[in-house]
Amino acid sequence: MTTAFQKLLAAPALALLCTAAFAAPEALAPVNLVGRAVPEIDKLPPGQYRELVQYGHELTTRTFAHIGPEVQDVRRRLAGNNLACASCHQQNATKPFAMPWSGVSATFPQYRGREDDISTVEERVNGCMERSMSGKPLALDSREMKAFVTYISFLSQGIPVGATVQGAGMVQSKMPNRRADTVAGGKVYEAKCAVCHGADGQGLRAGKVGDAQGYTFPPLWGNDTFNNGAGMNRLIMATRFIKHNMPLGASHEAPQLSDDEAYDVAAFMLSKPRPTKANLEVDFPARWNKPVDSAFPPYLLGATPDQHRFGPYPPLVEKQKQMMEQLKAGAAAERANAAPKSAR
Ligand code: HEC
Ligand code: HEC
Repeated sequence: MTTAFQKLLAAPALALLCTAAFAAPEALAPVNLVGRAVPEIDKLPPGQYRELVQYGHELTTRTFAHIGPEVQDVRRRLAGNNLACASCHQQNATKPFAMPWSGVSATFPQYRGREDDISTVEERVNGCMERSMSGKPLALDSREMKAFVTYISFLSQGIPVGATVQGAGMVQSKMPNRRADTVAGGKVYEAKCAVCHGADGQGLRAGKVGDAQGYTFPPLWGNDTFNNGAGMNRLIMATRFIKHNMPLGASHEAPQLSDDEAYDVAAFMLSKPRPTKANLEVDFPARWNKPVDSAFPPYLLGATPDQHRFGPYPPLVEKQKQMMEQLKAGAAAERANAAPKSAR
């Protein structure tokens, strides 16, 4: 005799549902952002959700006008520079391999080495507020935080939690095995960057200083830029961003610089002064996973600060691998020692 439950299970639709529910996460098909249609805000029905997505979009493209250091209301001056999130997260944070937010809702919460903890999307937003924007964190219950998270979730629609997202982050290009050459980088800068970012790296203001209108071409160094704790202040990260996204118009499919040019010009940019963030030594508390291009102390690999800042990186990556293996072996030995005791 079949029970009602067995009959239910025999129903094809339900059987399918059950398999889907129990499928391992790796069974999810990867999502490719390249060529994928970007959701359109205009297609949303009018209402609170659409308004918040719209505000998130506006905050992303015109950050300086709402929470920048020149806005009228002093309490709303949360970003420390006049960049926009979209100065780096290009095309309203939808461009593949320019750290797009499409899919971020599917990949957070996630482990982050910088905190050695699980980070939420909100914490990640504040990571960029305090570093890339050289400012203060947004209150978790602020309308601005809600708007960012809602816009990120809107861009992530249709991307299942746990899916691998192709086009996320940056292209993982290899670094030349040499110290970066800032003199050669200066020449690349003059030839291919200065026309927009200025010979002095100060960019081109959209309006006047003090009017909170941001930049037509953002500055790359000086007081009004990302601080030394930002991801973009790491040479490997900046090289990858520049290689596939600059000069404006470049993409992962159509890069305009060689690997060497990107590496050298990024080093030239990062050799210039910029705002500093206090207490960087508390970053990457687990230490073993501190990126080799984090150019601030403590340095654990026995290399010079200059090598962390300007490379060569392949030897450091190799050293870090060995360090991790030793740590793993140590942990395994500890477990083996502990096992007989607990069995007693
Ligand atoms: C100066 C460049 C820059 C600016 C400006 C910037 N970011 Fe970022 N952002 C990055 C980089 C680089 C990464 C990825 C690298 C890392 O882990 O730090 C990133 C990563 C992120 C991520 C995670 C993306 C992922 O794929 O995991 C989010 C979310 C984010 N930023 C939000 C923001 C918000 C919100 C703003 C504006 C308030 C902003 N960012 C401004 C450079 C920038
Ligand atoms: C045609 C103008 C143009 C040229 C040339 C150009 N950029 Fe940019 N760059 C931009 C614009 C505009 C942005 C802001 C992002 C956007 O609107 O897509 C930007 C953003 C950036 C950013 C991130 C934002 C910031 O302020 O830190 C970096 C880094 C950068 N460019 C580096 C370079 C380098 C290095 C070169 C030369 C190899 C270069 N750019 C050439 C226009 C240009």
